[in-house]
Amino acid sequence: MSQPRFRLHVIVMIAVLLLACIIAVSRSARAGADNNTRHNPVVDNATQKVLQGEQIFRFDTFGDEAFWGDTLKLHQAIEGAKLGGVGPGVSPKTALAVGLKVDVDALPPNLLQQIEKGKVNLDDPAVTLTLLKLNAVVGLTGSFNPSGTLKSVGIQCALCHSTVDNSIPALCAGQITPNPATGCIGHRLDGWANRDLNVGAIVAVAPDLSVIANLLSTDQATVRKVLNSWGPGKFDAELLLDGRAFNPQQVTDGVVTGTNVSGASLIPPPFGLGGVNLHTWIGWGSVPHWNAFVANLEMHGKGRFFDPRLNNAAQFPIAAANGFADLPHINPDDDLITSKLAALQLYQLSIPAPNPTVPFDKAAAARGDELFSGKAGCNNCHAEPLWTEPGWNLHQPADVCIDSFQANRGPDMRYRTSPIGALSTHFTGGFYHDGRFADLNAVVNHYDKCMNLGLSGSEKGDLIQYLLSLKF
Ligand code: HEC
Ligand code: HEC
Repeated sequence: MSQPRFRLHVIVMIAVLLLACIIAVSRSARAGADNNTRHNPVVDNATQKVLQGEQIFRFDTFGDEAFWGDTLKLHQAIEGAKLGGVGPGVSPKTALAVGLKVDVDALPPNLLQQIEKGKVNLDDPAVTLTLLKLNAVVGLTGSFNPSGTLKSVGIQCALCHSTVDNSIPALCAGQITPNPATGCIGHRLDGWANRDLNVGAIVAVAPDLSVIANLLSTDQATVRKVLNSWGPGKFDAELLLDGRAFNPQQVTDGVVTGTNVSGASLIPPPFGLGGVNLHTWIGWGSVPHWNAFVANLEMHGKGRFFDPRLNNAAQFPIAAANGFADLPHINPDDDLITSKLAALQLYQLSIPAPNPTVPFDKAAAARGDELFSGKAGCNNCHAEPLWTEPGWNLHQPADVCIDSFQANRGPDMRYRTSPIGALSTHFTGGFYHDGRFADLNAVVNHYDKCMNLGLSGSEKGDLIQYLLSLKF
């Protein structure tokens, strides 16, 4: 009688010992892994660079105040005549209406409470100055005179490539906030394209556009007309290279779909770009190429830039005439861009792309998945899971049945296969570089025609559900 009980005791004891051993081994393995992470110099270095890159992306102007403030005098228009500038000034309401965003984390709690209670006058440009002093306007930084007047302003990457979540919905009432995931005032969402931002309208209020007018050999009134033709979510990165402000004839699937269409392109979201070779709609280059390009030639920061392709006077008459291909060699100590490119690149490649923000039908998406790499042939170019071709990801305009206007404004005269993960973060403004397709329905109908796919109505619906589900 006692023997089986004794055996049971031994078995239980062995089991307990075994369990203890397993726990101890797994604990020490975990501790080893923790140690590895803590002391891994590669991880430490990456973390430090990514955090540096975040600061640069959000707050670095690269010295571009010399252009936006000192030259265009944009700060005077923001300030308004009453406070020492010119014109009516820019109230917070106006600023929000042109798509500028307020970083809630930069506001002191008492100001936030007053805003929530509606006790802050959002029609008063002085409040805009307060927000700038607090560094609370995403992507726009003011510098101030000792007297408190605005001395200059500069812009950051975050101006166009960040937005905020909707943490105080009441403030957005009446403003444009078409993406349900974003708002006017909230926590920063880096990497999201700000498709509410009307860059052209903002630049057009600058009192002195003579520099741009001179480059384009025209007058300031014409420059303002061009800037105001861009509309929300768009910017023309090639205007000051080639002066071609309008696409004379927009052609889609063999049909003329517009004349004298603005040459501005939609702001893309710069996340999900790891592993992607060429960037921008027309494949100008890699991330570090484009970052140097933008910081020097678009933001007008102080740095060094080299791209001899811009010496092609037939394609880039303005860039060639003004030596943009090889910006003057400056003293490395005065270069405010080059030393930041590495961290900026690492940060951009590390921004996690959000998961789909709109609901989709899982069963339909699964059928769409089959079509994507089967009958519809999308995967031939948008290769899963990069959603663009690994390698040289460019195409002739005819490959996607659209006109060559924008392709011809880039060095390879082609369009880059868009990495189409996280599409729901940029539903506003349409699809393709100029937003010519209002929604995904229009995109799928276009491919059906262009590539003779013969998709049925329900197949198109399934494909759209799949597109909604794509992540990076
Ligand atoms: C005034 C708005 C604006 C600012 C400021 C701006 N960008 Fe952009 N960015 C754009 C637009 C528009 C494009 C598309 C250009 C094109 O294809 O012609 C773009 C494209 C990009 C791309 C390519 C994305 C892709 O899908 O391949 C990256 C990367 C990028 N920008 C990073 C930056 C960084 C980094 C900064 C700061 C140094 C910056 N941008 C500042 C408007 C802006
Ligand atoms: C021949 C290569 C090719 C094929 C095949 C192809 N695409 Fe594209 N796709 C492109 C290019 C190039 C662009 C960018 C066009 C531009 O810049 O205007 C693009 C853009 C898009 C966009 C817009 C992205 C944005 O941010 O605006 C979507 C959506 C899209 N494609 C979906 C599809 C679907 C769905 C299919 C299959 C039915 C498909 N594509 C087949 C090359 C291709």
